[in-house]
Amino acid sequence: MEHLSFAITSDGSKTIFNEQVGENYHSRHGALQESKHVFLGSGLSYFLENKKKKKVSVLEVGFGTGLNFLVSADYCVRNEIELDYFGIEAFPLNKELISQTAYNEYVSEELWNSFLNHYQEAFHQKCIINNQCTVQIIEKKLLDFSSNDQFDVIYFDAFAAIHQAEMWSLESLTHISKFIKTGGVFVTYAITGDLKRTMKSLGFSIEKVPGAAGKREMLRATKL
Ligand SMILES: C[S@@+](CC[C@H](N)C(=O)[O-])C[C@H]1O[C@@H](n2cnc3c(N)ncnc32)[C@H](O)[C@@H]1O
Repeated sequence: MEHLSFAITSDGSKTIFNEQVGENYHSRHGALQESKHVFLGSGLSYFLENKKKKKVSVLEVGFGTGLNFLVSADYCVRNEIELDYFGIEAFPLNKELISQTAYNEYVSEELWNSFLNHYQEAFHQKCIINNQCTVQIIEKKLLDFSSNDQFDVIYFDAFAAIHQAEMWSLESLTHISKFIKTGGVFVTYAITGDLKRTMKSLGFSIEKVPGAAGKREMLRATKL
């Protein structure tokens, strides 16, 4: 994993820089603030409040360091929500790197320890992290992922289109859309005309919502 190194973002939280891709795993304006604003705030908690639900399933494209999982699971524990979390990850990070992220500073000690203890097992089966949360990570490329299940919320956290255009193609977005329930929410940190048009054509209603620090707007799409 020599092509990976740590970088500190503007809010003091760490991210990983991938030299092969030429991009960070998170916004350089703050990894933690991006995770909380885009995925937790505009995705998960928006869905739960809107639908008045106490149980939710999340599918993340690009599990990476697990920051979005940790922030989501911590929120669910504090709010008595049951969370079933699935991540798709083509190039898993090793446990040692995950343990060096210092993301323990943002969640309970119990959650952090359980996540680290189950991290490797989660690539083979669904793991119980605590009374309320499970996690499973599927080591596959997005287009090779398949499931009989559909999910309430999709976190689309791919590298930016300038670095990995294929993740934002009609083929990729058509594929991921199959796994979202009617009324389910798709969120991502970015927004472009192409992305809006594609999601609309796939049967979603589109919202431009305020973006995380460093971005004016981001996309939230709801499956009609
Ligand atoms: C922007 S980073 C995601 C950061 C992650 N959510 C986190 O909090 O650390 C993009 C992730 O997508 C993964 N990835 C790249 N190509 C992929 C593919 N074809 N299918 C699934 N994941 C892929 C990368 O390995 C990386 O972990």
